[in-house]
Amino acid sequence: MRIENDRVLRVLPGLGVELWRGVSLAELTSLGIGGTSDLLRITRHEAIPELLKLLDDGDVPHRFLGGGSNLLVMDGELPFAVLQLGQPNPDVVIEGNVARVDAAADLGKMVTFCAKRNLGGMEGLIGVPGTVGGALRMNAGAYGTQIGSYVREVKVYRAAAREIEILRGEQISFEYRHTSFAPDDMMLAVKLELPSKPYAEILQGIRICNEKRRASQPLGQKSAGCIFKNPGGVSAGRMIDELGLKGLMYGDARVSDRHANFFVNAGRASAADMLGLIADVRERVQQGYGVTLENEVVVWNA
Ligand code: EPU
Repeated sequence: MRIENDRVLRVLPGLGVELWRGVSLAELTSLGIGGTSDLLRITRHEAIPELLKLLDDGDVPHRFLGGGSNLLVMDGELPFAVLQLGQPNPDVVIEGNVARVDAAADLGKMVTFCAKRNLGGMEGLIGVPGTVGGALRMNAGAYGTQIGSYVREVKVYRAAAREIEILRGEQISFEYRHTSFAPDDMMLAVKLELPSKPYAEILQGIRICNEKRRASQPLGQKSAGCIFKNPGGVSAGRMIDELGLKGLMYGDARVSDRHANFFVNAGRASAADMLGLIADVRERVQQGYGVTLENEVVVWNA
């Protein structure tokens, strides 16, 4: 949406919030799909409560964007503004076994940074695209590791209370690809407590995970990672594959030939193409296995 509210436009610069007009979400998401909207880039956490109050009072609907790597955005002019943390150099600060990381930091870079300081445990997360904030919100995981296991504390803007809070790890529930954060909570920073390990050992773990990923996932292609959650620990990808659905296409949205739970944008796929493919595959798995697949990908519809 285009923000027209005069008061909002006047106050934004003083808050240190940049306004980018008519940004294409296709360029901010790993699927390369999505319409346009005004984007608000926040450079100071402290500005967030006031910014959100301003937007609510000015009737400007909005959503929070992390790294855009697990997200399918609708086509056309979006009926909401998009908010993103825009720190140019997000911090990773190490004190003993604790890494304090800004939510805007790239997950992979954070894992490597910690590894070089002999802090491990997160080797499985290497290659998971996106920001630390996005990984936290959904408790991202791979190869037996999930980020929630290492969380000591999270700094979060809680939309319901309209304030920034610090939550201890025990106050948050981290389950398989799910957390107890509310959908409109905004992750700001996290403290992770990590086990000490020699760098060489961590590096070896990272190499093994990278190789497994390269061998089984369509890494060079535009995707949102796995589309569906694994129901009850069974691989959704294996079921989709066994039904012979690799290569199935709706427009340019395609079930990957390498991993059937990755749906790739093979050209100029629209959100409608991708949603059509998701609905069709879900239906076929329902008929074939009697299992209802739940989206792992977050969908931004109206
Ligand atoms: N398989 C097939 N065909 C396929 C895909 C998989 O037969 O097209 C078989 C594999 O051969 C293997 C089994 O299914 O025997 C499991 O496959 P894989 O190791 O790829 O794991 P997955 O259960 O399909 C999960 C996560 C991935 C994560 C990998 C590795 C979910 C939904 N998926 O996939 O996470 O990278 O394990 O830990 O939990 C993501 O969350 O976006 C994601 C990609």
